Amino acid sequence: MQDAGPLASQLLLLSCLCVAVSGYPFRPPLDLDVTPRVTVLISGLQGSRRFQSSTVNYSTLLLDADRERLYVGARGAVFALDATDISASPAASIEWEASAEQKFQCLLKGKDNKTECFNHIRLLQRFNSTHLYMCGTHAFSPLCAYIDEERFVMSSKPEEGRDKCPYGPTTGYTGLLVDQQLYTASQYEFRSFPDIRRNSPSPTLKTEDAPTRWLNEAEFVGSSLLKERLGSGGDDQIFFFFTERNQEYSGTYSHSRVARVGRVCKGDRGGHLTLQKRWTSFLKARLTCSLPDYDFHFNMLRSVFVMPDLEPQETLFYGIFGLEWKNVKASAVCRFSLSEVQKAFQGPYMENQDSGSKWTEYTGKIPEPRPGTCINDALRARGINISTSLPDDVLEFVRRHPLMSHQVQPLDKRPVLFRRTTDYTHMAAHVVQGLDGETYHVLYMGTDEGWLHKAVEVQGQIHIIEELQLFEEPQPITNLLMSTKQASLYVGSPSGVVQLPLSNCGRYSTCYECVFARDPHCAWNGGECVDVTAQANRSSFIQDIQHGNRGCEKAQYDVAQKSRSVRVGDDVLLQCELISNLATPLWTLNGKELQGYDLNSGFRTGRTLRS
Ligand SMILES: *[C@@H]1O[C@H](CO)[C@@H](O)[C@H](O)[C@H]1NC(C)=O
Ligand SMILES: *[C@@H]1O[C@H](CO)[C@@H](O)[C@H](O)[C@H]1NC(C)=O
Ligand SMILES: *[C@@H]1O[C@H](CO)[C@@H](O)[C@H](O)[C@H]1NC(C)=O
Ligand SMILES: *[C@@H]1O[C@H](CO)[C@@H](O)[C@H](O)[C@H]1NC(C)=O
Repeated sequence: MQDAGPLASQLLLLSCLCVAVSGYPFRPPLDLDVTPRVTVLISGLQGSRRFQSSTVNYSTLLLDADRERLYVGARGAVFALDATDISASPAASIEWEASAEQKFQCLLKGKDNKTECFNHIRLLQRFNSTHLYMCGTHAFSPLCAYIDEERFVMSSKPEEGRDKCPYGPTTGYTGLLVDQQLYTASQYEFRSFPDIRRNSPSPTLKTEDAPTRWLNEAEFVGSSLLKERLGSGGDDQIFFFFTERNQEYSGTYSHSRVARVGRVCKGDRGGHLTLQKRWTSFLKARLTCSLPDYDFHFNMLRSVFVMPDLEPQETLFYGIFGLEWKNVKASAVCRFSLSEVQKAFQGPYMENQDSGSKWTEYTGKIPEPRPGTCINDALRARGINISTSLPDDVLEFVRRHPLMSHQVQPLDKRPVLFRRTTDYTHMAAHVVQGLDGETYHVLYMGTDEGWLHKAVEVQGQIHIIEELQLFEEPQPITNLLMSTKQASLYVGSPSGVVQLPLSNCGRYSTCYECVFARDPHCAWNGGECVDVTAQANRSSFIQDIQHGNRGCEKAQYDVAQKSRSVRVGDDVLLQCELISNLATPLWTLNGKELQGYDLNSGFRTGRTLRS
């Protein structure tokens, strides 16, 4: 007799997979899952510029808007491109590949010599006004080095990088240079615990592993500096975004992974006895992104985009979330307010009494000053001007309570966008003022297959203006940067970098097309569809972002006339090519609408589907 155990578990697994593959266990609200209005294949892409060289993996981008330079970190090389036109030659470059000996050592460690045993540039940041700083995986033995920006050469011998840079090209990682101090977060080595570190000045600070582990198999996707207003008496804060193993496992429908935001304070110097060389200001909270009215959660945070140019207290950020099931494509985009994150950090803490047991909200007494706060004027007034002066009971509390109880909900408590069958990887967004005086969020999202979606949010509803095919060969978009100064988007991918204009109003040749597009950049000036952000006198322009159909009543429909000669008795197919995926064709004969199929009429209408 066979052991029934493995069989039973296999059956269970199969039925789970079926649910996952045969569709969603719910009907998603359709108004969130929208079809891009226009599909532009690579052959019809206008205004794009490309940079490619003999290497691959153009994943690390750094923009210097003032110097109009785009720095690109790739596999074994760094490039300095002209941000105005990245295809302009010659591009300056620094070749930095691991030696043959180093690659051999990497192979001996059991690593893949086709992908991993190279020097993948993972960090590229401004160090000071004349130098950049970079780190590379260096065939599983990370190194870092300074770059002299003017001459574009490595200005020093490479230094040890194993505390600052992950060993592999795909390990979750984020790094930020703030005031010449490097903040990084990763699971650096294969077997090490994930860690958020500051490498200088000494002492270097880390996260804690015992008795309470602050991070659990964390995969980092991004970080951001929040500057305190000058004279506010507070401290700058660094936020980290990641997905980690769920600690609060509760109930049968719990999730194994959850999205998180964590933060530390710039002035943190660690504790005196307790939390020596550890953060005294680390707190984390859960980020939720769920469909309303469904117990359905997007738990995997893929990337984060922090909106630029907003007041610190009004900072908004977008997160792209995916499902835990790897074989189901889907993306949700949620928008959060940083003040909601701060509120969660002010709220109740979570606690687990003895490791391994359930986490519950802590309801006991909270020591003073409030654990996890940055050193501010209120603390200085109490004689605490540095974190090493914090009382021991406060530090002991911090050590055991890194997690907040309140979850951070997205604005409007729902995603701004949800898509089945699309995996978004990276995004950028900015605010554009429409001719109606309203401000609109314009979103650019890259997919895992090399497409770019441009969308606008109108009264809480997303309209996808267009989807653009950026690459001949499907490949994931691995980075996305926006420059309003250059009116450009820079897209990193395995095969190269693409520069795109933020808008392409010239694509729309009639008033109707221009208005239907609902692109806040574009308006009809009476003769053509133009980019309004560059125009001074916009009073007579036509634009209708709110409804996408008004203003062109006086304009002529653009009727393309085609004649065909046919022989009596022949069957002829008359094609109506639709520019918009949202349009339906309308056939008329002598002013009367034709519908369907009539055997005696001699014609039938329908539409062919493009696959
Ligand atoms: C690097 O590029 C190669 C070739 O395009 C690709 O197969 C690989 O997945 C890329 N690796 C990373 C880390 O992007
Ligand atoms: C990788 O290593 C194998 C030996 O294990 C060797 O045959 C192959 O040529 C190497 N490939 C590259 C790209 O170096
Ligand atoms: C910037 O840092 C580099 C590397 O430490 C140093 O050599 C250079 O003098 C610094 N530049 C300025 C303007 O401080
Ligand atoms: C903190 O205050 C003490 C004495 O009040 C002073 O000696 C020390 O320099 C101060 N430290 C900082 C970082 O301001």
